[in-house]
Amino acid sequence: MENIIFTSHAAKELSRLLERYAPQDRFALTDPNTFRECWPLLAGAGIAGERVFVTEEGETGKSIEQVVRIWEFLTERGARRNAVLVNIGGGVVTDVGGFAASCYKRGIRCINVPTTLLAQVDASVGGKTGVNFRGLKNEIGTFALPEKVVIDTVFLKTLPFRQLLSGYAEMLKHALLSGRECLDTLLKMELHKATPRQLAPLVRESVQIKAVVVENDPEEHGVRRALNFGHTVGHALESAALAAGKVWYHGDAVAYGLLAELFLSVRKWGFDPLLLEEFARKITGIYPPYEPAATPEALYALMLHDKKNEQEGVNFTLLRAPGEFVIDNYCNREEILPALEYITHL
Ligand SMILES: NC(=O)c1ccc[n+]([C@@H]2O[C@H](COP(=O)([O-])OP(=O)(O)OC[C@H]3O[C@@H](n4cnc5c(N)ncnc54)[C@H](O)[C@@H]3O)[C@@H](O)[C@H]2O)c1
Repeated sequence: MENIIFTSHAAKELSRLLERYAPQDRFALTDPNTFRECWPLLAGAGIAGERVFVTEEGETGKSIEQVVRIWEFLTERGARRNAVLVNIGGGVVTDVGGFAASCYKRGIRCINVPTTLLAQVDASVGGKTGVNFRGLKNEIGTFALPEKVVIDTVFLKTLPFRQLLSGYAEMLKHALLSGRECLDTLLKMELHKATPRQLAPLVRESVQIKAVVVENDPEEHGVRRALNFGHTVGHALESAALAAGKVWYHGDAVAYGLLAELFLSVRKWGFDPLLLEEFARKITGIYPPYEPAATPEALYALMLHDKKNEQEGVNFTLLRAPGEFVIDNYCNREEILPALEYITHL
């Protein structure tokens, strides 16, 4: 947690962090939306306009081609080994920027300034970087911790509600891993009414849950796999959409992934089916209807590609109860298809 700064003065914090870097060593990465909405809030932080690269917006921006453009930009401006890249944006910007920085000259530092709820509670924290490749999500990547993460919920003021929902799914995941109290708070909250100030303590709590897990297992050899809860199915939904040229928000995929994996948890570990029902009511009440870009069979085939699989079957983290997770559950086709049917017929 020591590399995470919670603040309501992001520009001031960033300017303090950049003091140790010469002006010509300071670079920033944004996308068109965060350049328009968030960059002005960081005026005075000490990065010159000509050192800001505006990358492509959205999931297609998480490509090796964008990384090459970032490297070209850095090279053309003479970025040295002691340069710093400040990633100002959602998970796409922090993932692609973190990856580009981790390889440029064998690694320059980066600072994340997450501007979506999802990036604040999840993507910008924990050191996973990467890009999509050949239709597979996050297929190429590195572990590279940012020097600092500056979290200011003021950025969420301009974030569309659809994007808030995306981060909310990751908060629900953290709450499921943490315990009943945290989960109840989130299930009861009315996200559409929450102000950035009200979100601040919830964001902090969610980040704390992730940070504790990451600190115990930074490179995901064991307990960090718990954070993949909901993501095995979620990534298959996203990969299917990516391959079909359709848009599926990461958070929507995680929300339905959580439901499918809770269904598996009920079957395999006796997770409370009434709680699954309550959870399902919340998800179907606020997320768009489930419209996958592939059949259950095709989604299952995509899951077989998952990086976590080390033996026959598909590797899942499952829950006995909120706060009681079990990693490395290998499930077979006969177990997985009913879970996909369950979310299809909600
Ligand atoms: N590295 C990790 O540990 C990790 C964890 C979770 C998710 N991820 C990755 O994060 C990505 C999703 O992140 P995301 O949901 O933040 O997507 P995103 O970066 O695409 O941002 C969503 C949209 O919001 C816009 N936006 C960002 N901040 C804004 C603001 N303050 N005001 C207005 N618009 C704003 C962006 O331009 C974009 O259109 C996925 O690629 C996912 O794989 C990574």
